[in-house]
Amino acid sequence: PARGRAAREPRVTPDDLERAALRLEAGLTVVFPTETVYGLGADASNPEAVRRIYEIKGRPADHPLIVHIAGLGDLEAWADPIPPEAWRLGERFWPGPLTLILPCRGEVPKAVTGGRDTIAVRVPAHPVAAALLKAFGRGIAAPSANRFGRLSPTTSGHVREEFGEEAGMVLEGGPCRIGVESTIVSLVGETPLILRPGALTAGQIGEVLGRKIGGASEGQVVPAAPGSHSVHYAPKTPLEILSGTHLPGRVFRTIRAGEKAGILALTQGAGSFGSDKVATILMPSRADEYARELYAALHRLDRSGCDRLFAERPPATEEWIAVRDRLGRACAGRSVPGPGDA
Ligand code: TXA
Ligand code: MG
Repeated sequence: PARGRAAREPRVTPDDLERAALRLEAGLTVVFPTETVYGLGADASNPEAVRRIYEIKGRPADHPLIVHIAGLGDLEAWADPIPPEAWRLGERFWPGPLTLILPCRGEVPKAVTGGRDTIAVRVPAHPVAAALLKAFGRGIAAPSANRFGRLSPTTSGHVREEFGEEAGMVLEGGPCRIGVESTIVSLVGETPLILRPGALTAGQIGEVLGRKIGGASEGQVVPAAPGSHSVHYAPKTPLEILSGTHLPGRVFRTIRAGEKAGILALTQGAGSFGSDKVATILMPSRADEYARELYAALHRLDRSGCDRLFAERPPATEEWIAVRDRLGRACAGRSVPGPGDA
């Protein structure tokens, strides 16, 4: 769905792509849109360029990056040996919001893998990302284009707010269609394992592989996923997650204490207070639409002068796993279990 944005969007021109590719060649960074979130990209074969990403993000050096490639045909340049299940998942889900963890080729710069013997690879589906990969002709290492531990950007505006001129060139791609980071599946262990939930679910992946796959259920930290700190993707304003029944009471106490509250509501009732001390965003009731708007909503509430943010807890079903995971990280443990919550 175009959501009425097409007309106002500046288009990326062939000239922009050529300039972006030249920057990458020169070891500089380029911010580009993907279907999940915006990425801060650099030449994955150039250790100096990759180090620039860490510098700009303020990210610990042992925190590995995802290499973005143009297609399945480029997989062998990065991974070896390639398990048969990687080909099957790539065939089915690439280009798309899937990252595979595979055994790494020896030549890959340590700056990309954080010194591990495994590598994260994905083929992004956004047309601008695809065009950039084609113009550049090699792999692009790219984390989400935000400072370490902060909210991921789903618009170019989020990137500019966070980095100003520091991020270098930003390719415009409109709001990201999926809005949460890719599903990460590790294929280096005995059973395929989901290290980070995303739009593609364990069910969809297991169906293609014809077997059940393991994974971190929400809240659990999978040690193999570096960067799965429980404090991550966080707004600056403290966020709490509450059930629809507990939320109104908590909000009333907040405004009685003279503080301003921001609410990510799922139901009308949880968000209506008729007070100028409350800013409410009524979120979509479909999980995929909620995911698409999640970071933009958190960015917006974070800038609205609120003292505390509250999110109404989404249902505990599989389609909501990625949203619940990101909300859980954003609230840094301030989740109040409600009735019926596992
Ligand atoms: O949707 C996405 O995946 C976005 C867009 C830009 O592609 N990228 C993204 O990158 O989310 P980043 O750096 O924010 O998250 C990459 C995650 C990190 O949690 C990192 O620990 C994990 O991938 N990762 C990278 N290499 C790994 C490896 N060899 N083993 C396990 N986890 C790895
Ligand atoms: Mg990130």
